[in-house]
Amino acid sequence: MAFKSLIIAIAIMAVISSMSHASDPSPLQDFCVAVDDTKNAVFVNGKFCKDPKLVVAEDFFKSGLNMPGNTSNNVGSAVTPVNVNNLPGLNTLGISLARIDYAPYGLNPPHTHPRGTEFLVVLEGTLYVGFVLSNPGPNMKNKLFTKILHPGDVFVFPIGLIHFQFNPGKTKTVAFAGLSSQNPGVITIANAVFGSDPPINDDVLAKAFQIENKVVDYLQSQFWWDNN
Ligand SMILES: *[C@@H]1O[C@H](CO)[C@@H](O)[C@H](O)[C@H]1NC(C)=O
Repeated sequence: MAFKSLIIAIAIMAVISSMSHASDPSPLQDFCVAVDDTKNAVFVNGKFCKDPKLVVAEDFFKSGLNMPGNTSNNVGSAVTPVNVNNLPGLNTLGISLARIDYAPYGLNPPHTHPRGTEFLVVLEGTLYVGFVLSNPGPNMKNKLFTKILHPGDVFVFPIGLIHFQFNPGKTKTVAFAGLSSQNPGVITIANAVFGSDPPINDDVLAKAFQIENKVVDYLQSQFWWDNN
């Protein structure tokens, strides 16, 4: 039976590739919880594949990136992502992109992409961009790299590092970003820390940020806009 031999071929390939790659595969989503009962398990890291016979050009197509995002929000920016969740042809291809619009003085607040390196090209306007390195060691500070970008300039944000973009100008800014994952993920630092559901315990945040509990309560009571 063709299906049976396909399963055997996949099993053999899985064994061979696990021997040639000594490390774990990179996750394509936040988590993939292990189960011992195989009945309801899903053996996938990413999304299922459509039957190739049923694939059409539209699976690789998306329109609308000529349209600016709505920047009328607390931070004055809007990210329009194009990833495997809205362009299914990207599954397993390790790449995605985003259009980012910034109102005058708009900010794409400090965030990280846990699964992707990003490069950003400015098409219009000005951007003050930066990223911070991971902890360097005892008694040393996390190093910050910044740059002012103009149209045509490109900047790279290495995978996992906290980064931001701010429009210091009186006119709007438009940028496009490429990301090295079909699903790079976004963790907006303020939203994750002060806007989680349920909230993180006051004592934890008070100690971590060296502030009083009432400041924690104030921050937790704010509306943390997700610009993605
Ligand atoms: C943009 O968002 C604001 C706030 O949510 C809303 O009031 C406004 O109608 C939106 N504009 C467009 C063009 O969708």
